[in-house]
Amino acid sequence: MTLFPEMVEQGLDTSILGRARDKGLIDFEAVNIRDYSNDIKHRKVDDYTYGGGAGMLMQAQPIYDCYTAIKERIGDGSFDKEKKLRVVYVTPQGAVFNQKMAADMAREEDLVFLCGHYEGVDERVLQEIVTDYVSIGDYVLTGGELPAMVMIDAISRLVPGVLNNDESAQTESFSGHLLEYPQYSRPEEWMGRKVPAILLSGDHRKVDDWRHKQCVLRTKERRPDLYMEYMKAERFQVGVIASTHGLQGEVNVFPTTEDPARFKKLKKVKLHTQRGEEIDLDIASARFFKKFVIVKFKQFDNINDVERFKGCELTIDRKDAIKLAPGEYYCADLMGMAIVDEEEKELGTLTEILQTGANDVYEMTLKDSEEKVYIPAIKECIKQIDVENRRIIIHVMEGLLN
Ligand code: ADE
Repeated sequence: MTLFPEMVEQGLDTSILGRARDKGLIDFEAVNIRDYSNDIKHRKVDDYTYGGGAGMLMQAQPIYDCYTAIKERIGDGSFDKEKKLRVVYVTPQGAVFNQKMAADMAREEDLVFLCGHYEGVDERVLQEIVTDYVSIGDYVLTGGELPAMVMIDAISRLVPGVLNNDESAQTESFSGHLLEYPQYSRPEEWMGRKVPAILLSGDHRKVDDWRHKQCVLRTKERRPDLYMEYMKAERFQVGVIASTHGLQGEVNVFPTTEDPARFKKLKKVKLHTQRGEEIDLDIASARFFKKFVIVKFKQFDNINDVERFKGCELTIDRKDAIKLAPGEYYCADLMGMAIVDEEEKELGTLTEILQTGANDVYEMTLKDSEEKVYIPAIKECIKQIDVENRRIIIHVMEGLLN
């Protein structure tokens, strides 16, 4: 829904999206809000703001009528009237758009974008029809068309078939937590700059290693925020140093791993200081005492050396973690996943995993509230763990949600 349909049509109907539309994989239509104005003569869609203030406001009626007409037209009238149509209002006041939101929206059959102009839109029509408020970043544009087009592009390329194999094989920035590695094409030397020799070596394993290192380095340098996410996902916390133990440099570690006995086998850990330093340490010994593991690192022999590590995390590399059987997951990997029902309606987020003597119990914090619901992690309830899309599909047993 826009006041500038040509801008949107022309912007989207080229290149990859144009091709996908021709193939019938996606379709889009820019609907002119002005066509739904009740003002036959001037086709007015805006008016002054109650309470004063500069600028004009888009009125509720043309937008609402435009929305109703779209809803009736979808699938030649086949749109289930009971179902709420997903309507995205693009606004700098929204949640900032990201790859996860793009993936979520790509699963919708129909999406409507409302592009605002002037000083904004009458609040009442937003309350009536909008399901998502989304921004493309913390800056203000002159209208919602460009942001809507940005989102439509990001969403459409995730629809199966829209990208051909070559295009989708392009390593995805943001699909993992790392940015892409640098790439080079011919010639081997340009303006005195050479292609890194490893890429010419023909040794695929070395090339892959080099590329991975570049991804990590680049992310650390350019996007420290993403690097933190990567660390969270790639490293496993095994414990937190609670206090020193004795005078010989031992520490009491509170184990946070699902299997504290693994301390016995651990040889190397990384210690993360509050200041963000990472220190590689070798474990000389580990013994259990009450709820703690008393750990001695090879590097330290004196209480004074370890005093400053109180509260620091100990982690291990994912590849050193215990191997899992198919269908097994680390708690850390599941936390924060969306929980959806069998119709793929989002119910909430996994916020805690409680380990009981028998099955685990998942704590779900309901969407739009702080309320918690407890779901037994048994196969009658947990239908699928979709790691790629970070969601858990559950069967909603009677009485679970009310
Ligand atoms: N409209 C104006 N600025 C915008 C932004 N940054 N994101 C989404 N919609 C907008």
